[in-house]
Amino acid sequence: MGRSVLFAAGEGLPFIKTGGLADVIGSLPNTLAKRGHDVRVVLPLYSKIIAKYYDQLERLGTIQIHSGWIDQPATYYKAEVDGVVYYFIEHQGYFEREGLYGYTDDGERFAFFQRAVLDMIYFIDWWPNVINSNDWQTGMIPLMCHACYADDYRYQNIKHVYTIHNLAFQGNFGVDMMESCLGLDYYYFDNGSIKFDTGISFMKAGIVYADKVTTVSPTYANEILSESFGERMDSVLRYRRQDLWGIVNGIDTKLWDPKTDTLLQKNYDVKSWVSGKRANKKALQEELGLEVSDDTCLIGLVSRLTSQKGIYLITDRIQQILDMKVQFVVLGTGEANAENAFKWMESSYKGQAVYYCGYNEELAHRIYAGSDIFLMPSIYEPCGIGQLIAMRYGALPLVRETGGLRDTVTPFNEYTGEGNGFSFGAINADDMLHTLQYAVSVYYDNRPGWKGLVKAAMTTDVSWEKSAGIYEELYYQLCNWQG
Ligand code: ADP
Ligand code: GLC
Repeated sequence: MGRSVLFAAGEGLPFIKTGGLADVIGSLPNTLAKRGHDVRVVLPLYSKIIAKYYDQLERLGTIQIHSGWIDQPATYYKAEVDGVVYYFIEHQGYFEREGLYGYTDDGERFAFFQRAVLDMIYFIDWWPNVINSNDWQTGMIPLMCHACYADDYRYQNIKHVYTIHNLAFQGNFGVDMMESCLGLDYYYFDNGSIKFDTGISFMKAGIVYADKVTTVSPTYANEILSESFGERMDSVLRYRRQDLWGIVNGIDTKLWDPKTDTLLQKNYDVKSWVSGKRANKKALQEELGLEVSDDTCLIGLVSRLTSQKGIYLITDRIQQILDMKVQFVVLGTGEANAENAFKWMESSYKGQAVYYCGYNEELAHRIYAGSDIFLMPSIYEPCGIGQLIAMRYGALPLVRETGGLRDTVTPFNEYTGEGNGFSFGAINADDMLHTLQYAVSVYYDNRPGWKGLVKAAMTTDVSWEKSAGIYEELYYQLCNWQG
């Protein structure tokens, strides 16, 4: 039997990205494909994908999808990138909108998507051994596959892995969805397996019905078993703990490579980072209207501006941060309070601090390359991609010790020289500030220490190789494959 895996997700590079999920979907599948597996990905066909990639898509055909009262056509498209086949599901009304998620009919949109994913398998007559679903947008797939295709052994042979990227986004909807959009028997609500408060939860369905559940770092896998990180899913996760694996993310080391990145002013590697980063810092300062000074410590932040990311630990101490001899560049959008605080920062510290309010992938590359310190003091962080990219670009991550940040960043030990960044423990703005002050003092006053850290960060293995091997092992166990 072939070794085949279908990844179902709400977003994925190179086609569409709002956050780290897209980074993962754009890089884990092709690492697995390179290891000899038949790996395919299925995504909704959003307007932004149509605008940029329509000419490269091959139209496969249209079928009618029935799910509860939904009776709508799905048109399938296909493209191949780097050894991975991508399928797209087109439905004008559901997916051709400005954004990806956050609409009042998200439950209906993604009920349709998930049913269309399962029908696609029959339509293209490709029967994967494993479906790896991701986050709430695809959490219903294991249950739908089990309940709606019960009399087709080919569907029943498929094993299901459900990967949690962020437990806080759960896809919780009213119970009327059972009949209207999912076509599922109330039995699944009455037996409590997908019931959440008075409604249903796509995330909970994934946790309960998948054969294995993974999340994106070992520490987060452990944290979510507790009430404080469990987002009210901790009891059901504890019930599945034997099947819960924490596998740390990697990044696409071709897309994120300071040696070949065409968006940079100057390319560099671990041998040439001093001059390379200096040139990129100068270019960034010029681009953003900062005072040009290549020996000033530059702090970067590229993030969704939400409380998850510890943004308010920073905004509470902006004045103390900028009292130091540093520059601060912030790129991101999010909560109004955070955006307003950074707007205030920019207007109060002209030439020293800049806030770019928006989503800008190209600028993100230049910030990683031009920064000395990458700030990521998250309150919780399932894995985090930002700190991995930062390390590869020689920007030392300063993180809070939680989730994947704890698993990937080793704090500097000035006595042994060990470490690849800086970290602090408590959720406390002063602890963050003191750690940042310390990092800045190392930058100015302990150059050998700093150079050792940058070298360690740039040579930290942030690729997918090791973790892809763990996913492979999981699939092997599930399907009784021989390694
Ligand atoms: P999350 O998925 O929780 O937002 P991650 O650290 O896993 O956090 O991934 C965030 C990804 O999105 C990184 O690749 C980061 O560079 C990128 N990113 C975040 N905000 C922006 C932005 N405003 N512009 C460009 N890229 C961004
Ligand atoms: C989520 C998490 C982030 C993780 C990403 C990819 O967005 O917030 O920590 O890196 O998913 O798994």
